[in-house]
This record gives sequence, structure tokens and C-alpha cells, in this order.
Amino acid sequence: MNSLEKQQEKPPILITEVGPRDGLQNEATSLSLTTKVQFINALSKTGVPEIEAGAFVSPKAIPKMADSDEVFRNISKIEGVTYSALVPNERGLDRALDVGVQKVAVFTAASNSFTLHNIHSTVEESINRLRPVVVRARRNNLKTRGYISTAVFCPYEGRIPPSRVVDVMRQLVALGIEEIALGETLGKASPRDISLLLDHVYAEVPTVRIVLHLHDTYGMAIANARTAWQQYGVVNFDASAGGLGGCPYAPGASGNVATENLVSAFKASGAIVSVDETRVVEAARPIFKELGRNMLSKPFNVAEATGKVRLAAP
Ligand code: HMG
Ligand code: MG
Repeated sequence: MNSLEKQQEKPPILITEVGPRDGLQNEATSLSLTTKVQFINALSKTGVPEIEAGAFVSPKAIPKMADSDEVFRNISKIEGVTYSALVPNERGLDRALDVGVQKVAVFTAASNSFTLHNIHSTVEESINRLRPVVVRARRNNLKTRGYISTAVFCPYEGRIPPSRVVDVMRQLVALGIEEIALGETLGKASPRDISLLLDHVYAEVPTVRIVLHLHDTYGMAIANARTAWQQYGVVNFDASAGGLGGCPYAPGASGNVATENLVSAFKASGAIVSVDETRVVEAARPIFKELGRNMLSKPFNVAEATGKVRLAAP
């Protein structure tokens, strides 16, 4: 068996498209409900298994997500795609349940300074607040994700020791949360940082499903994703069409790794990925047109069934 065949033996890469949430939460321009719905409907046809379509957070904190209820009511859900949303508290869960959300993502961080800015509580307080959310979500047969932001660097505290991430992770896993998304919030980590983090994570909590949520400020996200896949067998990654995104409380950090670039890089490495990256670009094009700027993604290789590779511009 050659090395390409060995890569293809691995389970497929599973991408959660977070453009409609992480991508749009921080934009200065307000997009119409119709534009958001069309974006999500177009993403539904790209082959991604999951789309984070909104956030049931305080509209005072994140005005751009205030219409998430209407977004969920109006999208055309496709069989085989899970439509998830951020939920900060029980009020958010009520809203999510009202509109038939299938999966909820609760969120905290590995650093108090970040949670104090982002959700006005310490890490401990935030876990106390999300506990009843998870209990009720599970009782309602919703799937669950727990985000841990600042898993490598915090904008206020600098480098975060992996032991602190593991400590938060243990508490989330104890609640019965099915997957943990490690937020590389600043997009500043290197493959070495990711290795150090994952060494600790898998040594301490070996059975948990890990998702890497990689922002791409310094262009390291693909190298980080590849390290996690090759060395640790991580197959779950978040990505954002066109590289949209950022967090209001992580100044200067850019969007998530562009979905089309991550998909193309994994395909070129011999991984199985169900996503059609050219469709991702087409889905994102109208959004960037309305935002009045260019996509952040690079031109990419499209590996066709023939084995030929052609270059596609974003
Ligand atoms: P709070 O300000 O501490 O106080 O909110 P509160 O609970 O009293 O709520 C304030 C106001 O919001 C009140 O309204 C509530 O009713 C209302 P008022 O009485 O003043 O009129 N409210 C709500 N309204 C609708 N839906 C709700 C809801 N909750 C409260 N669910 C809270 C604390 C956590 C709720 C707030 O700070 C919040 O919603 N923060 C959201 C922050 C956020 O969404 N940040 C971005 C996402 S995280 C991220 O991007 C990182 C990630 O991508 C991973 C990574 O990159 O690392 C996930
Ligand atoms: Mg993020």
C-alpha cells in the first residue's frame, strides 16, 4: 500500500461550516435575512455535513445574530446536514428549541479574562450557566458541542498552558457533551503548539471527539489542521466559506480558515472530503459582494476525479 492509499484508509474529514455564525457575527455590514438564508441554502448543497447557522445569544452583545430565529425558520434543511447554533444560556436554548435546532454549541474558554469580556462571567460561572442548558438539550435529544476558546493563546493573558484547557474539557465532558471544539481564537498557533495541546488532551481525555476551530490570522491554520490529522487522527474541523469571520472580543484576529482552502489542501493530501470547494466559493460570492470586499481565500487546486488538478480562483 502506498502512502496515498494509506491516507485514504483514514476516516473522512468532516467539516462544520461556521461562516453563517462566526463569519457574520462580527461584520460591520448588516446582511438581510434573505441573503443569510440564501447563503445557508447554498452551503447546504456543498457537501458539508454540518452548518453552524446562527447564535441565540443576547442581541445586545451580538446584534448581527439577532435574527437567528428567523434564519432557522426560513432555511431549507437538507437530509444529511446538521444545522447547529451557539447557545449561551437557558433563554438561548428556549429560542433554539422553538425553531427546531438539531445541535447546540455551548461556549466557554480556557481564560477568565476572555470569558469576562465575551460572556461577562468567569470560566467557572460560565460552566455553571451552561450546565442546565446541556441537561435540557440532552433531554430534548439535541446533539451537543462545547467550545473552549483561547485554547492556545488569549488576547488578554497570552499563552495558555494546555493543562488549563484540559481542566475545562474534563468539566464539559463530565456534563455529557459529545464533542469539544478547541478554539484557536487568535489564529496565532503553530503546528508545534497544536501538538503540545493535543498531546495533553489525548493523554488526559483520550475518548473525547475533538474538533479544531482554527482562525487563520497568520496563515498557519492549514498546517495546524494537517498536523492534527496526520499525527493525532483528528478528522473534525471548522471552517468558514471565503475565510469570513472573527470574534468581537479577539481584536485583530481574522476569520476561520477558508473552507475551500482547507478542503482542497486535505484532498491534495489524499484525504477523503465530501465537500465541493467550488460550490463553497459560489455560496460565499454574494456575501462578499454585499460586504464590498474580496474573499480571504487563496486560489486553490481542484483535484478532479480524473486525477488532474486545475487551479480555481476564489
Ligand atoms: P449579560 O450581559 O451578562 O447579562 O449576558 P444578562 O444575562 O442579564 O443579559 C443581558 C441582556 O441580554 C438582557 O436584556 C437579557 O434579557 C438579554 P435586557 O434585560 O438588558 O433588555 N439576553 C438575551 N436575549 C436573547 N437571547 C438570549 C439572551 N440572554 C440574555 N439568549 C450573555 C450574558 C452570555 C447572555 C451575553 O453576554 C451574550 O449573549 N454573549 C454572547 C457573546 C458572543 O456571542 N460572542 C461571540 C461568540 S463566541 C466566539 O466567537 C468564539 C468561538 O468562535 C470559538 C473561538 O473562536 O475561540 C465560538
Ligand atoms: Mg471563532
